[in-house]
Amino acid sequence: MCGIIGFTGYKPAQDILLDGLQRLEYRGYDSAGIAFFKDNSGHVSVRKTAGKVNDLRAICDEENTSSTGIGHTRWATHGGVTNANAHPHKFGEVTLIHNGIIENYHELIEKYDLKGKLKSDTDTEVAAAVISCNYSGDPVSAIRAAVSELKGSFAFCILFKNHPGEIYAVRNVSPMVATHTDDHGSFIASDLTAFIEYSNSYFVVPEYHIMTMTDGGIKLEDMEGNDVAPQYMTVDWDVSTAQKGGYPHFMIKEIHEQPQALSDTMGPRIKDLLPDFEEDGIPDSLFEGVKDITVIACGTAMYAGNVGRTLIQNKFGIPVTIAIASEFRYERPTISSDTLVIVCSQSGETIDTLEALRLAGKYTDRTLAVVNVKGSSIARESNYVLYTHAGPEIAVASTKAYSVQVAAMYLIGCKLGLVLGRATEAEVREFISGLKNIPSLIEEVLKMEERIKGLANRMVNTKDAFYIGRGLDYTLSMEGALKLKEISYIHSEAYAAGELKHGTISLITDGTPVIAIATQQNVYSKVISNIREVKARGAYVLLISKDKEITDETVCDEHISIPDISDELTIFESIIILQILAYYTSVGKGIDPDQPRNLAKSVTVE
Ligand code: M6R
Repeated sequence: MCGIIGFTGYKPAQDILLDGLQRLEYRGYDSAGIAFFKDNSGHVSVRKTAGKVNDLRAICDEENTSSTGIGHTRWATHGGVTNANAHPHKFGEVTLIHNGIIENYHELIEKYDLKGKLKSDTDTEVAAAVISCNYSGDPVSAIRAAVSELKGSFAFCILFKNHPGEIYAVRNVSPMVATHTDDHGSFIASDLTAFIEYSNSYFVVPEYHIMTMTDGGIKLEDMEGNDVAPQYMTVDWDVSTAQKGGYPHFMIKEIHEQPQALSDTMGPRIKDLLPDFEEDGIPDSLFEGVKDITVIACGTAMYAGNVGRTLIQNKFGIPVTIAIASEFRYERPTISSDTLVIVCSQSGETIDTLEALRLAGKYTDRTLAVVNVKGSSIARESNYVLYTHAGPEIAVASTKAYSVQVAAMYLIGCKLGLVLGRATEAEVREFISGLKNIPSLIEEVLKMEERIKGLANRMVNTKDAFYIGRGLDYTLSMEGALKLKEISYIHSEAYAAGELKHGTISLITDGTPVIAIATQQNVYSKVISNIREVKARGAYVLLISKDKEITDETVCDEHISIPDISDELTIFESIIILQILAYYTSVGKGIDPDQPRNLAKSVTVE
């Protein structure tokens, strides 16, 4: 949550900061601000406002020659959405931006006698004050002293008065990456998308290391003052990957990117129609002797894990538990050294998932991260990583990351099936040859966009919607319901179709939309009966199935036929329909689906 950026170099900083912030807005968009050395003097100026980056642009100077500055886009934690609470915060000679939460800020207010001296309600201003109180001319010593007193998570970029051209940075937990290029100068940001236009090579700022950035380079040192060499890595994206590319929103662009994302993720891991993780450095020994699996994740990543659970348990007979990361941390763990812990995360920075991984790591060395963002905290802290190759996902609502996570779970399941002797090579080859066809089948489903857009019109004025299915379709329903609720603000719930009659069916009245998914042959007739039950009570039913046609009006009002493939794979087709439906419902309601209220893409607070 919160996006931060800093630049010091050979060109004016303002546009670099504002454009970078715009790309980081997915991390929060309650308020925005920048600070810079006015006219490259030692004096720091701040512009900030409640609202989005475009509101900030409107109050920025037209001409700004400063070549050093920092910028912030906020997702509010402490203190409401006001101009005063917007970052940067200035205290004494210190100006800073912050992503994270300082947990002991009350104690620090007492200790440093700050009552009555603060202008905002934020924990961040307290951190600025603590650094300022420890400052007597040497920024690094002040940061070192202050950081030893802070509890919580933080990524700070800091300007010190009379140190023009210099940006200081330090972090704990909250992400921060940086780079230096001879052509432009030094960049730092919450993630690479902010400065991808200037460099596709970067390093992750290590925790509890202090960075001094100037136009000429970056000095990285540990808390004892020892120099540390940054570990650079590169990605193969360019700036176009982080732009809308002609689409009106990132979400619809990312929905359309799913065939490519799936090919990129599966291609390198399939050899001779068998799963192969050699290039990922994941040995078969990781899977040998595995007795059970625990999947830990949040939100969409958790729902993707749940699809994986259903497949792995039913196809290969391996027990799988799904753990909501934020709950896992406070429950008694049941994992052992024979448990494979799979941690799923698009960003690799979700704090609940990261902390759960750390806890799991105390019980087993078999931790495997399925992560999209290279070098992210979860990727670095797991014993093994299987990167999904979806490219940057910018829209708050996760779409392509979900599909590639499911694909990764399926491949891991196949590997386990083989290593544990639960499936023959022939069985796995047959399954994987179906999986390889998924990208082209998704292209077919994407052609239904206009039809689904029309169906979304029916959803715009609704208050409640229900998603039902059985087996894999039920796990998919959960993701469908989440997609709709987060971007359209329509209350939507997923139910196992057979469970409705145990209570929830009382909510079905005339016209209540029910999105029913019936692609699993072993429960097909049961689901159809459940659909008839809601239809008989007035529901408006949109049915997704493999049937070519359904004319029986007692079953559904609208039917979408998906290409007929194996039951285990239909989920890849159906999710496209549910994503498009949610997208156009949101757009139809006049909501910006990329930036729905109250949400942020990367959830780095507990
Ligand atoms: O980055 P992660 O995959 O760890 O994020 C997990 C959830 O916060 C995320 O999936 C969230 O639920 C999305 N808004 C769903 O669209």
